Amino acid sequence: MKSIKVGLLGIGTVGAGTFNVLKRNQEEISRRAGRGIEIVMVADLDVARAKELVGAQCEVVNDGNLVVNNPDIDIVIELIGGYGIAKDLVLKAIANGKHVVTANKALLAIHGDEIFKAAQAKGVMVAYEAAVAGGIPIIKALREGLTANRIEWIAGIINGTTNFILSEMRDKGLDFDTVLKEAQRLGYAEADPTFDIEGVDAAHKATLMAAIAFGIPVQFGKAHVEGITKLEAVDIRYAEQLGYRIKLLGIAKRTPHGIELRVHPTLIPAKRLIANVEGAMNAVLVQGDAVGATLYYGKGAGAEPTASAVIADLVDITRLADAQPAHRVPHLAFQPHSMTDTPILPISEVTTSYYLRMHVADKLGVLANVTSILAESTISIDAMLQKEPALGETQTDIIMLTHQTQEKNVEAAIKKIEALPTVLGKVTKIRLEHLS
Ligand code: NDP
Ligand code: HSE
Repeated sequence: MKSIKVGLLGIGTVGAGTFNVLKRNQEEISRRAGRGIEIVMVADLDVARAKELVGAQCEVVNDGNLVVNNPDIDIVIELIGGYGIAKDLVLKAIANGKHVVTANKALLAIHGDEIFKAAQAKGVMVAYEAAVAGGIPIIKALREGLTANRIEWIAGIINGTTNFILSEMRDKGLDFDTVLKEAQRLGYAEADPTFDIEGVDAAHKATLMAAIAFGIPVQFGKAHVEGITKLEAVDIRYAEQLGYRIKLLGIAKRTPHGIELRVHPTLIPAKRLIANVEGAMNAVLVQGDAVGATLYYGKGAGAEPTASAVIADLVDITRLADAQPAHRVPHLAFQPHSMTDTPILPISEVTTSYYLRMHVADKLGVLANVTSILAESTISIDAMLQKEPALGETQTDIIMLTHQTQEKNVEAAIKKIEALPTVLGKVTKIRLEHLS
């Protein structure tokens, strides 16, 4: 059978990885796909570098339009990134009746509904396994493997760069900027690394997972997003002393009132498997009503791990290219007419546990004042750590872990605690999840 023809937009980290893995494992891949998969055209701004990477075997151009308008091409892989030219080219490819594979979570988290609608109307597939958790087949698991389940919640370490930074800072005592530079050198970070460190990239991925887990539209704008830039080393240390690790988690949770969609540093019990996911590794924990908890672990970033997911999509599309559109897996797992508009809850309505650290004057009654404010706010304390003041010091830290409560309760209590004359400065609040 004639091989399927592929056009590649962008041959940077993931593009080069995809080209190389496809070439190296060509035979194995076509035995699985049922026919050859051939990249016949590559578009990149740096034509000379691209030619060096692909050799003489395929055409290299500097304009992606030549790829998406090429009538010989069946599948377009978009690996440029961002929502500018990438969106334009993806929509043009769809309009030209081509299937699309993309790793671009930013594009899909913002414009996914428009892109999937266009693809649906045209009867083509848009596959995006590489957009969430790099090489881990989490989209496949959520859309297909867990299809019998009512998904209750998902919690994941879904940004390799920030997990790498947290691990290296903790284990090697390196500073933030040094580790971020190393993550960039290794090809983990986004073109704009603030997307990684401010939690935006993880929120893009959590948004996509929430959509396919709960059958809701893609709503990045409603996600609560916090990164790791405000996290202090002292809290990582205190968390460890209390038996917890701090990880940047992406969380999507079904509640009776709506859906929680949030990304923030989170304390997790150190004994959980996911708390021990280090470096650029990712892990996603999914709780389904029938299967219980399942955990997916692997490399969340980098050239070949991400290429693994891109090529899995190429194979899926190759197998299904001639199938009736209605027989394919829906883009967001649920049939388009069966999506619901379950609301995404504002962060003030979220219910979870909290780590609170306050710096206090070491005076009689300070602890009693704090605990009575918490009691008045119906917040119960799960654990507490009071540090001895250093020699000659008259101030110290108190750390409290609370049981579950609503965010707005905690915020109101913190305001009162900060107003106490014995509490010095701001209270540090970090959310805590037991993931049990
Ligand atoms: P890179 O920046 O390494 O690669 C992007 C490539 O696209 C570069 O070669 C760039 O050329 C080229 N490019 C830019 N503009 C155009 C254009 N107008 N036409 C053609 N080519 C263009 O990014 P990555 O490979 O790291 O990421 C690609 C996508 O994959 C992104 O959406 C990213 O979020 C996603 N992703 C990345 C992962 C990773 O580990 N890196 C993991 C999972 C997803 P030039 O360099 O000359 O500007
Ligand atoms: N910048 C992303 C990360 C790449 O660090 O996880 C993978 O999506």
